[in-house]
Amino acid sequence: MANMGTTITTTTTITGLTAILLAAGKGERAGGGVAKQYRTLGPQSVLAHAVRSLARAERIIVVVGADAREEAEQAIGAPPASLTFITGGATRQESVRRALDHSAALPSPPSHIMVHDSARPFVPDVVWDRLVAALADGAVAAMPVLPVADTLVRGADGIAVDVVPRDALYRVQTPQAFRFDALLAAHDRWPAGSAATDDAQMVRAIGHDVRLVEGDQRLEKITMADDFARIAALNGIDGLPDIRTGTGYDVHRLVEGKPLWLCGVEIAHSHGLSGHSDADVAIHALVDAILGALAEGDIGQHFPPSDERWRGAASWQFLEFARDRVAARGGRITHVDVTIICEAPKVGPHRDAMRARLAEILAIAPDRVSVKATTTEGLGFTGRREGIAAQAVATVLLGAEG
Ligand code: CTP
Ligand code: MG
Repeated sequence: MANMGTTITTTTTITGLTAILLAAGKGERAGGGVAKQYRTLGPQSVLAHAVRSLARAERIIVVVGADAREEAEQAIGAPPASLTFITGGATRQESVRRALDHSAALPSPPSHIMVHDSARPFVPDVVWDRLVAALADGAVAAMPVLPVADTLVRGADGIAVDVVPRDALYRVQTPQAFRFDALLAAHDRWPAGSAATDDAQMVRAIGHDVRLVEGDQRLEKITMADDFARIAALNGIDGLPDIRTGTGYDVHRLVEGKPLWLCGVEIAHSHGLSGHSDADVAIHALVDAILGALAEGDIGQHFPPSDERWRGAASWQFLEFARDRVAARGGRITHVDVTIICEAPKVGPHRDAMRARLAEILAIAPDRVSVKATTTEGLGFTGRREGIAAQAVATVLLGAEG
């Protein structure tokens, strides 16, 4: 793109640069029932990717729909300290306007602004660098553009009329970069009732040049349903969520004169399980399954039997720990399946109480918790009633890269 204003790609920084991230749209054309910015693309939401891709701004203002604040917080996970939310308006232009008003009212308003669509979740560093370099070079405004590859033709009544020369035509992307005062003035002076589809045209309307820098295919916008897979592929994401499975297995010896705990429920029985903690063999297997899904070691590593703190401890604490580790990784437990292996007691009568208790500890719905049991037909240590074994499988959906 020899005719473009700047090809400088060295990393320059600018102080007082705020990014406005627009996420107040309804995403209707993309369908899917959930606005596109809240949908998952690979390991995290579109919005989380977009926030991450603006990390080099001093401040990030995320503009969300009325009542969408909670959804946005959940979609982003652990937000950077520099991030604030504001409520957007009925149009993109109005959403930008609100972010500008918010910025102008700050004790130290920004010197420069990047306006970016969350529907373009990946901003390549090279594009960011080109925009910042343009600002540092004194440009009042700059935007990334791509050349038009296809032949363009003007048509009328279903008939080609003439070919439109395409060498001076470009497709416009975001982020668009501005001196703050210029963008504010452009919004102030834009005729009421007239619609603008981006900010650069508003700044041009008050007489400033908008510098063109080279855009990037990876910056394409998600507009229709098919765009998710295409943009994921362009950015090296396979489009699949990060689903993890872990297994766990545990055995405890049956002894007389001890209470019997299984799945966090105390069960009246002639024998109980012996162990350092309350010996809830089913919960121990489940904790290992969850830790296994996270690839974060096993229960003995986190709660060593040598540690006096865990003598006689209630095992639900270990399960809460595993649950919290999943949350800390930005994930959620989608399903657990526990099998208890013993001749007695009968698990059937306690199954619903066990499922309810595990669901309560894990803070998930009971229909995501399965508890099963089997005997070993009198064979082996479980058959001889010397001990109880348990195995578990946990499925975890990681929402963010851990
Ligand atoms: N946007 C916004 N406030 C609005 C409308 C749009 O912040 N009132 C944002 C969108 O969230 C999006 C960007 O502007 O990131 C570009 O708009 P578009 O791609 O049209 O997204 P939507 O308006 O959400 O989608 P649709 O038009 O298909 O409903
Ligand atoms: Mg729209």
